[in-house]
Amino acid sequence: MKIAIKVENLVKCYEKTVAVDHVSFAIPEGELFGLLGPNGAGKTTIINILATLIRPTSGYAEVAGISVAGDRDALRRRIGIVFQEPALDVKLTGRENLQFHAMMYSLSKPERKQRIAHVLELVDLLDKADLLVEKYSGGMKRRLEIARGLVQHPKVLFLDEPTLGLDSQTRRHIWDYIRKLNKEKRVTIILTTHYMDEADYLCDRVAIIDKGRIVAMDTPTHLKDVLGGDMVHLEISGGDEPLVDVLRNADWITAIKRHDGQLSLTMEQGDKRIPELMCAAMQTGTQVLSVNLRKPSLEDVFLHFTGSTIREEELVHESQFHFVHGRGRR
Ligand SMILES: Nc1ncnc2c1ncn2[C@@H]1O[C@H](COP(=O)(O)OP(=O)(O)O)[C@@H](O)[C@H]1O
Ligand SMILES: [Mg+2]
Repeated sequence: MKIAIKVENLVKCYEKTVAVDHVSFAIPEGELFGLLGPNGAGKTTIINILATLIRPTSGYAEVAGISVAGDRDALRRRIGIVFQEPALDVKLTGRENLQFHAMMYSLSKPERKQRIAHVLELVDLLDKADLLVEKYSGGMKRRLEIARGLVQHPKVLFLDEPTLGLDSQTRRHIWDYIRKLNKEKRVTIILTTHYMDEADYLCDRVAIIDKGRIVAMDTPTHLKDVLGGDMVHLEISGGDEPLVDVLRNADWITAIKRHDGQLSLTMEQGDKRIPELMCAAMQTGTQVLSVNLRKPSLEDVFLHFTGSTIREEELVHESQFHFVHGRGRR
């Protein structure tokens, strides 16, 4: 099996932050690999190092057999990248945007023309190719960016938050294109996302990343299997101490997590255990506001490995963001 991307002990430090903290992974050719984590986890930094846009502080990384510290131009010719921030010229048509991009690669004019038509067809934009991009919907813009990343026929495609800010129907369409590229065109894809469902649905393997570190890495199915059984979430008003004390002694509960007024319990056959849980709550005088039973999701896996939910982490980062801007950075 050939390796498309290899990362060993990668570190990136900024003045006050360790953005990437000893990260290692290897991606075989043809894999659709996901980096899943909250804002600020270090996902974009890893992508930017792999695309040779920034240099690592230490560690090793290679793409398509070329070290990021080696022949950068050769490496860049083998990759395509779709940035987190949209980067299209909206005053040009879709086709013109691709033509402009294709100029950077040494392709003959007929070759350029043929490839542009081909990638436009791949993302179903041929009939909209000569429309100004400012007339495009959000989903069409994203598809055009994916097409742009494909013009040079990359071996490896980087997609940084490919469906950020899109509505759920458009996201599904984008997912279909990503799948098609990977399965039919055999493009190795590494994507970043903070959407659990995206990682779960699309990726062959997922690395869960938090604060610059990979906390778990496996297929979505295996990651969820780690938790074992069902998740029962209890929303509790007031103290949960007495109930937790009782539940700790129940051997059929394999994990107990507490986070903002919620108890998350892992067990086999959760549906059959709910009556027992209610009994325990009553006996300990615990007020249960709601009960929710479901199969583990990647959200639960994230919670299991980090002790917080991705959404909570985002709130923390959002408030930091406002704080920093409130002080007028730059
Ligand atoms: N140029 C930079 N200078 C200083 N800190 C940075 C810079 N770029 C990223 N960071 C910090 O590194 C961390 C990881 O950021 P990033 O890779 O963008 O995360 P993600 O893509 O997962 O949201 C964050 O704490 C971010 O603030
Ligand atoms: Mg990012």
